[in-house]
Amino acid sequence: MDKLSAQEIKHSTRATPPQSVPALRTLTMPADANPNGDIFGGWLMSQMDVAGGIHAYSLSGGRIATVAVDGMSFHLPVHIGDLISCHCVTERTGTTSIAVKVETWVKRRADGREEKVTEGLFTYVAIDAKGRPRPLPVGES
Ligand SMILES: CC(C)(COP(=O)(O)OP(=O)(O)OC[C@H]1O[C@@H](n2cnc3c(N)ncnc32)[C@H](O)[C@@H]1OP(=O)(O)O)[C@@H](O)C(=O)NCCC(=O)NCCS
Repeated sequence: MDKLSAQEIKHSTRATPPQSVPALRTLTMPADANPNGDIFGGWLMSQMDVAGGIHAYSLSGGRIATVAVDGMSFHLPVHIGDLISCHCVTERTGTTSIAVKVETWVKRRADGREEKVTEGLFTYVAIDAKGRPRPLPVGES
């Protein structure tokens, strides 16, 4: 699968969260904060990787590995106590790889407002028991 350049990765401009069931939802905790008191970006990225991995795992029918993260954007800070939801869409598939667009939306603890806070393109490769790329199931590639 050809890699997408940063310019080719489209960021959505939607004002409301996707209607899809999020691949992952969780509450942000004090232990997830950075020294400023907001949520640490690395923690948020790991949640997005888990969400995209759940999505890719179900499509690939087995083991996967993250091979790349592109076009990662942090639009707004996330605060302790915000509820986060990671929504996933298959951007494209290749012979062994699946690119998943992951958007994170928060529901603010303070006032219940819903806002998109991050997005990025996570690429996974279907792998066999020895960690080698394996073809996606027929119909997914
Ligand atoms: C994932 C891994 C098995 C792929 O092995 P590889 O020998 O690089 O495989 P290939 O070169 O055949 O590429 C496999 C697929 O990945 C895609 N790919 C490889 N590097 C990529 C990148 N940087 N961005 C997007 N896609 C990429 C290729 O285009 C190919 O897709 P296709 O089969 O759909 O056409 C290997 O790179 C690996 O084990 N990486 C470490 C994974 C890991 O530990 N992840 C967790 C990080 S903590």
